[in-house]
Amino acid sequence: MVKPIIAPSILASDFANLGCNCHRMYDNGADWLHIDVMDGNFVPNISLGPPIISSLRKEIPKSTTKASFFDCHMMVANPEQWVPEVAKAGGDQYTFHYESTKDPVALVKLIKEHGMKAACAVKPGTSVDVLYPLAEHLDMALVMTVEPGFGGQKFMPEMMPKVEALRAKFPELNIQVDGGLGKDTIPAAAAAGANVIVAGTAVFNAVDPKEMIELLRSRVAESLKARGLLDE
Ligand code: DX5
Ligand code: ZN
Repeated sequence: MVKPIIAPSILASDFANLGCNCHRMYDNGADWLHIDVMDGNFVPNISLGPPIISSLRKEIPKSTTKASFFDCHMMVANPEQWVPEVAKAGGDQYTFHYESTKDPVALVKLIKEHGMKAACAVKPGTSVDVLYPLAEHLDMALVMTVEPGFGGQKFMPEMMPKVEALRAKFPELNIQVDGGLGKDTIPAAAAAGANVIVAGTAVFNAVDPKEMIELLRSRVAESLKARGLLDE
C-alpha cells in the first residue's frame, strides 16, 4: 500500500524568502519539501547546497508530529561525495541519478549508513529497466518528466510508460514524478501509477497553493484507490 505524497519544489520559491515560503508550503498541506541540489556539472545550472539545507533545517526542525521531510534531489556529479554533508545538514532522503554513479548499490548502502532514505532517479533518455535490479534496495524511484536542470519546463507524457512499468512490477514502491506537474498533467501521472508528486511552478505560482496541493493529492488518491493500493 502507498500514500499520495505532494512535494513542492523549492526551486520555484523566491530564494530571498525561502524560510517563510517553506513554512507556507507545509502550512498549506505539503507532505515533503523537494530540494533540488544542482552543481553546474551534472546539470547546466547551479541552485543550492548543504549550507542552505542546514539553515532550512534550523527553521523547520525534524518532527514526528508535523510535516518536516526534506526530499533532496541531487543533480550532481560524484553523488557519493555529498552524502555525509547532506545527512549532517538534515536531509531525510537522498535521491541520486542513475547516470551519475558507477556503483548504485554501494551508494544506496552509503546513504542508508548515514541514516537517510535512498532513492534513484532516471533522466528522460535513460531506460527504466536499470531500476529493476535496484528497486529492492530503494525507498523511492524517480522518473524525470523533464530534462533535469530547470523549473517551469513542459511535462513529457511519453515518460508515463516508465511509471506504468514500475508500478506493475513494484506495487508498494514510492514512485515519484518530477517536472511540469500541475492541474493539466496530474491525470496522466496519477493514472500511470505515480504516488509522489513534485510540483514547483504549479504550487508556488498558484493563487491558492492549498487548493493546488489538494487537487494533486486527490487525483493520486483516486488512482491508487482504483488500483487497490491506497493506504488510507
Ligand atoms: C528540475 C527539478 C524539478 C523542478 C520542477 O530539474 O528537478 O524539481 O524544480 O519544477 P516544475 O514543477 O516547475 O517543473
Ligand atoms: Zn527535482
